[in-house]
Amino acid sequence: MKVSSVIFAVIAFSMLGVFGFAFLGFYDVSASSPHGGFVSWLLSTTSHASVERRAGEIDVPDLDDVALTLAGVNDFAGMCAGCHGAPGREPEAMGQGLNPAPPDLADSAAHMTPAELFWVTKNGIKMTGMPAWGATHADEALWPVVAFMTRLPQLDSSGYEALLADAKGHGHHGSGEDDADTGADQHNHAAVQASAEHDHDEPEHDEPKASTDEESHAGHDHQH
Ligand code: HEC
Repeated sequence: MKVSSVIFAVIAFSMLGVFGFAFLGFYDVSASSPHGGFVSWLLSTTSHASVERRAGEIDVPDLDDVALTLAGVNDFAGMCAGCHGAPGREPEAMGQGLNPAPPDLADSAAHMTPAELFWVTKNGIKMTGMPAWGATHADEALWPVVAFMTRLPQLDSSGYEALLADAKGHGHHGSGEDDADTGADQHNHAAVQASAEHDHDEPEHDEPKASTDEESHAGHDHQH
């Protein structure tokens, strides 16, 4: 047999294997069964490398702004805690049934840079339950959530509840008020200051990305 026929036979059998696998229903797609070790490793390695590469370009605004965190805690409670949980709070039923499971974002924030947190929040992750919030929110409406996430590793349940109480009316999930005021007012809340001592993984930029101002207007008309 010629070498070329052997190669052809190998390719044909491989294709048959792939299509057979796809069409015959052998793979268990149920969310209640775990991925095999190799599949898990391949997916999470691919995902982490993809996020790391794409987040490199992002210009990070000053996340130490207290108003940003107060807006972020309400938006986090409204948009994220149902799946990811929050300090002292379990995820809701929706989050508990997902596979892959939504990680505790206090752990994620401890090892991801603000740019990476922002990238995932904005773009989501394919074939998981993680939505692309950028489909409905402008960048400016998502940075507050990122600012809040950078404080999560230092926040216990009482700190979280205190922040929530402090943050009434802030953010676009704050008791129906619009988020147009974030960044404008000065706040001096004890709960925020208590959780304000943290380090970012990468140097911060003083100025928000120039384009966020223009993009922001789109963010105010999304529906919830
Ligand atoms: C419907 C459920 C759901 C909601 C709501 C949700 N997420 Fe997620 N999120 C997930 C899942 C599932 C993953 C894990 C994806 C994976 O394993 O690749 C994830 C992953 C992430 C990650 C990556 C963490 C890591 O360690 O790699 C970040 C950051 C994140 N979400 C932020 C948010 C933020 C911020 C919000 C709210 C604005 C939010 N998520 C709302 C389901 C959700």
